[in-house]
Amino acid sequence: MNIGKIQYSDLTRDRSRIPSHIAVIMDGNGRWAKRQGLNRVNGHNEGVNSARDAIEASVDLGVKYLTLYVFSKENWNRPEFEVNCLMALLVETIFKEIDSLMEKNVKVVPIGEIDDLPRDARKSLDDVIFKTENNSGMTLFLAISYSGREEIVKAVNRIINDGIKSIDEDIFKNYLYAGNIPDPELMIRTGGDLRISNFLLWQCAYTELYISDKFWPDFRKEDFLAAIADYQKRERRFGKTSEQIR
Ligand code: IPE
Ligand code: IPE
Ligand code: MG
Repeated sequence: MNIGKIQYSDLTRDRSRIPSHIAVIMDGNGRWAKRQGLNRVNGHNEGVNSARDAIEASVDLGVKYLTLYVFSKENWNRPEFEVNCLMALLVETIFKEIDSLMEKNVKVVPIGEIDDLPRDARKSLDDVIFKTENNSGMTLFLAISYSGREEIVKAVNRIINDGIKSIDEDIFKNYLYAGNIPDPELMIRTGGDLRISNFLLWQCAYTELYISDKFWPDFRKEDFLAAIADYQKRERRFGKTSEQIR
């Protein structure tokens, strides 16, 4: 399949160079809308298309885990109208996309404080979790009401409650929302800001960062593939020298 300049086959020539886990900070919806004189909410609506593209491309490439930053804990502090629209969009999007997620054999798993969600949003989320539970393809982690610091503090509290006196990194990791899955090899942020915004703080210790100046609604399949192509050119040294890893 030919998408823009980069083809799937360019990326899959060496399967070991396909990230097993990609995380995405889908930022810039508000600015995208403002740029064309629209309400911020229109940007969120449009951003759904880019999320669908990212999911499709990931499934097609055989990415095992995709984590999308949908709504941060801090995003609750936005104007009530915007928060309500985002919650309504979550319900609508799950309703519209659930069949396609089933077709693609995608399993949806939330990470974050989903008990904070309003009842209808929580119900939609529960529906898609339940329906896709036995799917064996890609796992789609939806970070909703998510805070990286809170995830770490909650993990520590659960460890204390379990009466564990001493831990190592592997034990600790099991207490994070997603448990023992590979750290993201690649983290994409759109909208041009050079920060992590409280996303996957533990997990991104050695993650390759790819920042795009495009706003999320403009970041479509070819851009997602370009991010992976860029990742494939990186030399991941993990503290070693170049010579050691060649
Ligand atoms: C990201 O886009 C979506 C959410 C945070 C929910 P923004 O709404 O943050 O868009 P900008 O950054 O204001 O342009
Ligand atoms: C990060 O974007 C959260 C999501 C994309 C869901 P923000 O727009 O909330 O991040 P900051 O506030 O600019 O750091
Ligand atoms: Mg933003």
